[in-house]
Amino acid sequence: MTPFSISPFRFASAIPIGLVFVVVVGFLAGGEPTPRPTTPSRPVDYFATWPQQRKPDAVLVITGQTFGYLQPCGCSRPQLGGLERRFVFIQSLKQKGWPVAGVDLGDIPPAAAAVPEQLVLKYATILPALREMGYVAVGVGKAEFRNGLFQLLEEYAGQKEQPPYTLAGNVAGLLGGKLTPREVAFPGPGQRAMVGLVEVAEIGSVPVGIAGVVGPSVQKAVADMGSKTLIGFTPEKDALSEATKIFAAHPRKPTLTLLLYQGTLNEARAVAKQWPQFRIIVCLSDDAEPPETPDILTRAGAPDALILRVGHKGRYVGVVGAFQNSRGDFDLKYQIVPLGEEFNTPGTDEVASRTNPALARLDQYAEKVKSRNLLAKFPAGPHPAQVALPQKNVTFVGSEACKGCHAAEYTKWSESHHAHAFDALTTIAKRPALRHFDGECVVCHTVGFGYKGGYRNELATPGLKHVGCEACHGPGSAHAADPKDAKLLALQSPWRRQASDRLPDATTLEKLANRPAAERNQFLTAAQLRAINGVAQMCMACHDSENDPNFDLFTYWPKVVHPTAKK
Ligand code: HEC
Ligand code: HEC
Ligand code: HEC
Ligand code: HEC
Repeated sequence: MTPFSISPFRFASAIPIGLVFVVVVGFLAGGEPTPRPTTPSRPVDYFATWPQQRKPDAVLVITGQTFGYLQPCGCSRPQLGGLERRFVFIQSLKQKGWPVAGVDLGDIPPAAAAVPEQLVLKYATILPALREMGYVAVGVGKAEFRNGLFQLLEEYAGQKEQPPYTLAGNVAGLLGGKLTPREVAFPGPGQRAMVGLVEVAEIGSVPVGIAGVVGPSVQKAVADMGSKTLIGFTPEKDALSEATKIFAAHPRKPTLTLLLYQGTLNEARAVAKQWPQFRIIVCLSDDAEPPETPDILTRAGAPDALILRVGHKGRYVGVVGAFQNSRGDFDLKYQIVPLGEEFNTPGTDEVASRTNPALARLDQYAEKVKSRNLLAKFPAGPHPAQVALPQKNVTFVGSEACKGCHAAEYTKWSESHHAHAFDALTTIAKRPALRHFDGECVVCHTVGFGYKGGYRNELATPGLKHVGCEACHGPGSAHAADPKDAKLLALQSPWRRQASDRLPDATTLEKLANRPAAERNQFLTAAQLRAINGVAQMCMACHDSENDPNFDLFTYWPKVVHPTAKK
C-alpha cells in the first residue's frame, strides 16, 4: 500500500537513497515472503493487561514518523494505519472515559515528493486533523527540515496560537553561518514562538510536561542538507536543562514528563540516564515495525525511564496509561496498537465523512489535489526506450494500437484486471474519492505516467488509462509502425538481459510456486532465471512490497500470461 505516498520507482531521482524502494526478488534470494499483518476477526481488547478496576489518570497516544501516509491506498488488504483509523481509535479510548491527549514525534510529511506542493498540502492536512484528535504537541524531524520548516509552518499555520504546538527547543535560524535564536527565527502569531521548547498540558487532572529536542544524529543530518534549510541548532543539553527548569518552576508542577526526542535509541538512552526528570522519551525507530515493548532504563534514585518507538508511516500507535500511585508518582502501562480495519469508521462513506473529521480532512485534501491540478505538476522524464533510440521519437500509443497485429494477446489482456486498473481509482477507492486526480495513485494505474508522452489526464490521453501493453512493454509507436525492425523489437521486452531470455511456461511456474522459494532455482535454466528476475523487477515497480505484499511472479504471471506464438 502506498497510502498516498509516491511510488518511488519513476521519480527516484527526487528521492534520497535509502527511501527508494529496493526490489527484493525473494524467490531468487531464497527468502520467504514476509507474513502479512492480520486483522483480527473480532475486536481485540488491547488493554486487557492494564488495571481493570480503575481508569488511568492520564493517557497519552503516541505517534511519529508518519511520512505523509494519510490513508491506506486500498491496493491490497489488509493494510494498517491512516488518519481515519487513528481518529476512531482515539475516540474509542475517550469512550472508555479515559482522559486522552496525543503527541507526535515529527517526520510528519514525506521525506520527498515528486510535487513539493503536494507534500506541503499533506502537512497542512495532517496538523489540523491532529488538533481535532486532541494532540497537544508535535516534534520536528529530518522530513520537516529537508522540506523547509519555515514553509511548512507557514502553510499549517497562517494560524492562531493553538495546539498541537511544535516543539524543538534547540532549533535556531541559521543565516550566513550565524545562529538566530528560535524565538526570533520563528515568531508566532501570539505570545509564543511557532517553534517552542515545552508545553504543559492538562490531561484529565494531570499536568503533563512535554518537551521537544533534536538530538545530535538528526542535527548532523540537517547540517549535511546544506545551508538552504536555514536551520541550525543550539546544544541539546542547554535545551534539556532549560526545559527541566521550566517544569520545576511551573505553577502546575507537572509530575509526568515526556520528551519528544528526535534522535536514535542510543542517544535517547544517554539522555534518559542524564536527565532523570524525563519519565517517558519518544525517539526514532530505525525499523518500520515498532517493538512491542518499551525500552526500560532503570536509574538510581529516579523512576525507570520508558523509551518508546512507534515504527513508521503511522501504522501503529503507542498508548501510555499513567496511574497515580501512593508515592505521588505514576505507574506507567504501555501498549502498541496496530491500526487495522476494525478501526474503520462505521457507516456509509457519506456518513463516515460527516462523523469522522479526519476523513473530512482527507476529502478536502483530495478535492485540493484535484482543484489545484497537481496531476499536471508531476515531472515527466524520458523512458529508457526514448533514451536508447532518440532519433525514433518513440512514444506511447495505447493498447488499441497493438490490437490489430496482436489480437490474441489483446484478448487475453482485455480479460485481465490490468485492462480496468484505472477504474479502481474512480469506483473502488472511496475514503477519500477523486483518487484519479492524484498522480501518486495514477502512476501505477495507467500507462507511462511520469514519462514523456505517457498518461496525462483522462481528457488528453484517454487511451493510456489502465495498465495497458506499454505499461510493461514500454512505448510502442515505432515498433507498431515498423514491426520488423530488430532494435525496436528488442526494446519491447526491456526486461531481457539476453535475446534468449524467456519465462518458463505457466504450468511450470504454477508447479514451482508450491515449492519453497529456495528450491525453485534448481529446476530452471540460466536464461529462465534471468527472465524471471528481469520480469519480476518490472512487475514489482507496481506490485511492490507495500501495494502488493503477496506478489509472486510464479502465481501472478500465469494469471496474465499471453501467447508467445509468432504470427
Ligand atoms: C506502486 C504502485 C501503486 C500505486 C502508487 C498505487 N497503486 Fe493501487 N494497486 C497497485 C497494484 C499492484 C494493485 C493490485 C494489487 C493486488 O492485486 O493485490 C492495486 C490495486 C488497487 C485497488 C484495488 C482494486 C481492486 O480491484 O480491488 C485500489 C482500490 C487501488 N489500488 C487504489 C489506489 C489508490 C487510491 C492509490 C493512491 C493512493 C493507489 N492505488 C496507488 C499498485 C499501485
Ligand atoms: C503492424 C503490426 C504490429 C503492430 C501494430 C504491433 N506489433 Fe508487435 N509485433 C509485430 C510483429 C510482426 C512481431 C513479430 C516480429 C518477429 O517476431 O519477428 C511483433 C512482436 C512484438 C513483441 C515481441 C518482441 C520480441 O522480442 O519477440 C512484442 C512484445 C510486441 N510486438 C509488442 C507490441 C505492442 C506493445 C504493440 C502496441 C504498442 C505492438 N506490438 C504493435 C507486429 C505488430
Ligand atoms: C504499471 C503498473 C503495473 C505493472 C507494471 C504490473 N501491474 Fe499487475 N496490476 C496493477 C494494478 C494497478 C492492478 C490492479 C488492477 C485492478 O484490480 O483494478 C494489477 C493487478 C494484477 C493482477 C490481478 C491480481 C488479482 O487480484 O487477481 C495480476 C495477476 C497482476 N497484476 C500481475 C502482474 C504481473 C505478472 C506483472 C508483470 C509481468 C504486472 N502485474 C505488472 C499494476 C501493474
Ligand atoms: C503486465 C505486463 C504486461 C502487459 C500489460 C502486457 N504484456 Fe505482453 N508480455 C509481458 C511479458 C513479461 C512477456 C514475456 C513473456 C516471456 O518472456 O515469455 C510478454 C510477452 C508478449 C509478447 C510475446 C513476446 C515473445 O517473446 O514472443 C507479445 C507479442 C506481447 N507480450 C504483446 C502484448 C500486448 C499486445 C499487450 C497488450 C494488449 C501486452 N503484451 C500486455 C508483459 C506484459
